[in-house]
Order: sequence, then structure tokens, then C-alpha cells
Amino acid sequence: MIKQIDTFLKENQAHIESYLQQYLSNIEAPPQLVKAMEYSLMAGGKRIRPAFVLAIIDALGKKKSIGYGAACAIEMIHTYSLIHDDLPAMDDDDYRRGKLTNHKVFGEAMAILAGDALLTHAFYLITHDFPTKEHQNPAAIQVQMIQELSKYAGPMGMVGGQVLDMQGENNPALSLEELYKIHQHKTADLLTCSVRFGCYLGGASSKQLDALSEYAKHIGLAFQIQDDILDEVGDEQKLGKKVGSDRDNEKTTFVSLLGIEQATKKLEEHVALSKQALDQAQVKDSLLVELTDFMIQRDH
Ligand code: IPE
Ligand code: IPE
Ligand code: MG
Ligand code: MG
Ligand code: MG
Repeated sequence: MIKQIDTFLKENQAHIESYLQQYLSNIEAPPQLVKAMEYSLMAGGKRIRPAFVLAIIDALGKKKSIGYGAACAIEMIHTYSLIHDDLPAMDDDDYRRGKLTNHKVFGEAMAILAGDALLTHAFYLITHDFPTKEHQNPAAIQVQMIQELSKYAGPMGMVGGQVLDMQGENNPALSLEELYKIHQHKTADLLTCSVRFGCYLGGASSKQLDALSEYAKHIGLAFQIQDDILDEVGDEQKLGKKVGSDRDNEKTTFVSLLGIEQATKKLEEHVALSKQALDQAQVKDSLLVELTDFMIQRDH
């Protein structure tokens, strides 16, 4: 049986990619910079974060098309984080999304700048492609979304998490609590932001916003635990990135700290917690339940 999620993810990927391409083609900038941005942005990827923006809008009974600007903005931030994450000064990886990493093709300086450009352009997109007609006070929502993206992607969010991740290298004494903090910020925060964007665009109540943020936090944690597991036991070909990178970099991960079995248990715990929170949100949730299951059954 073809599940609703398979169709949704396929359609979502196609739509997001066509919007990303269109947004790229409107950028007036040095051609080599746009080429470097395009190289990583259009290299594939599951487009999970945009899928969450759109699935939440759908669960709130609105049409998904109002979310493309915000969804692409989040994907640009995510892609920038991957370009920088792979740099020699960080995880020093050579493959991403099945292709050579950005710095391997364009050099480190251009890779850093392509990342900077994707980060900054995300903020441009939120205001440039906003569904103004759908809201009574569109300016207030745009300001809120810009503030939240700064919070969840910046020093208080993803960038802060990447710093903690880096400082945690070669530290076997890192506690589970500290590891949670790393995963929360480096990964769960951007997922939470995606879900909150869906909430703002879809007109969620504040109770729904809280419940769905809790849902996103647990999915984000489960997603990074799965990423840690796949780094240990995954298939390089399917993942499109090197397996064993964490071990090489002496990272503390759920697998290094707890072993595969206990890490899997933790993952399942967070999936259960995410579904509890989803129940509280009282939205049309069948697609979100399938998306949650997909997130942890994935092998890439
Ligand atoms: C990889 O994210 C980095 C993490 C935060 C775990 P994804 O697994 O979503 O990577 P793509 O976008 O599919 O390449
Ligand atoms: C990545 O964590 C988190 C961010 C890019 C913000 P990882 O370093 O584990 O991601 P992969 O495994 O390289 O995709
Ligand atoms: Mg990393
Ligand atoms: Mg990495
Ligand atoms: Mg990883």
C-alpha cells in the first residue's frame, strides 16, 4: 500500500526543489557564489524540515502553498549548517548528499561564503515571499518569525549547539545531560523552528503552538539519536555521507555513551513523548504521525 507519507514526501521534495531553484535564479550575485550555493542546496537531501513546515500548515487546515517561502528559508539555513559542519576546521568530511563536500569543490573560502550567503538569504525570503493576504497583521508575524529564526538558528540555538558539540570532542566524561543539551540545540532547535513557522502561518492557537513545539523537540532529539546510530551502523551509499565520522572525530554521541541498544531505547522514548505531545495539540494529525514514524525508520 502506498502510504500518504510517501506521496507527501515525494510531492514536497519536488515542490520545494522547484521553489529553491526559482529563488536561486532570482539572486543577483557573483556567479561563482550562486554556483556554490546551488551546488549544495540542489544536491538532494530529504527536505525534512520544509516537510514539517508544510505538514503543520496542512494539519491546521490551511493550504500548504502559503508555506513555501518559510520552508525554503529553513532549508537554506539547514544547508548552510551542513556546508560549515563539513569544513576541515569542523567535522572535516569529504562527502555530503552523495557528492563531494562544498569546500572540496569550491575551496574553503567560497564554502564559508556560500554558507554565509544561504544563512542571510533565508531572512530575505521570509519577508520577500510571505503570504500577506492570509493574515490580518502580516508584519507582526514576519517580525516574530525573524526573531524566532535568529533564536533557534543562532547562538542560543543551532550555532550554540555546534559549539558545544565541538567542545565535547575527545571528552569521554561528557554526561548524558550535557549530550542532551548538544542535541537539543544543534538539531532539535531548527526542527522546532520549522514546526513553529508552520504554526504561525497556519494560525495555530497558543496552546497548539506549545504542544507542537514539545512534539518537535522530541522528534528533533530522536532524529539526532538516529543520526548518531546511522553514523555507526548505516550504509554510506544510502546516507550519501561517510559513516564513522563521529568515531574519527572522537565525538560523544548517544552511541558512544550508551551503546546502540540503549540509544535505540532512548530514541523510542522520544518518539513516544512526541506522539503524546501531538495528541495534546488536537490537530488533524494522521500525516504528522506517519512523518514521525518515517523519521525514525529511515536508513538515510
Ligand atoms: C543531517 O540532517 C544533519 C543533522 C542535523 C542530523 P539531514 O539528515 O536532514 O540531512 P539531509 O538534509 O537529508 O541531507
Ligand atoms: C550536524 O550534526 C548538526 C548540524 C549540522 C547543525 P552532525 O555533524 O552529526 O551531522 P552529520 O552527521 O555530519 O550530517
Ligand atoms: Mg557535526
Ligand atoms: Mg558532521
Ligand atoms: Mg552525524
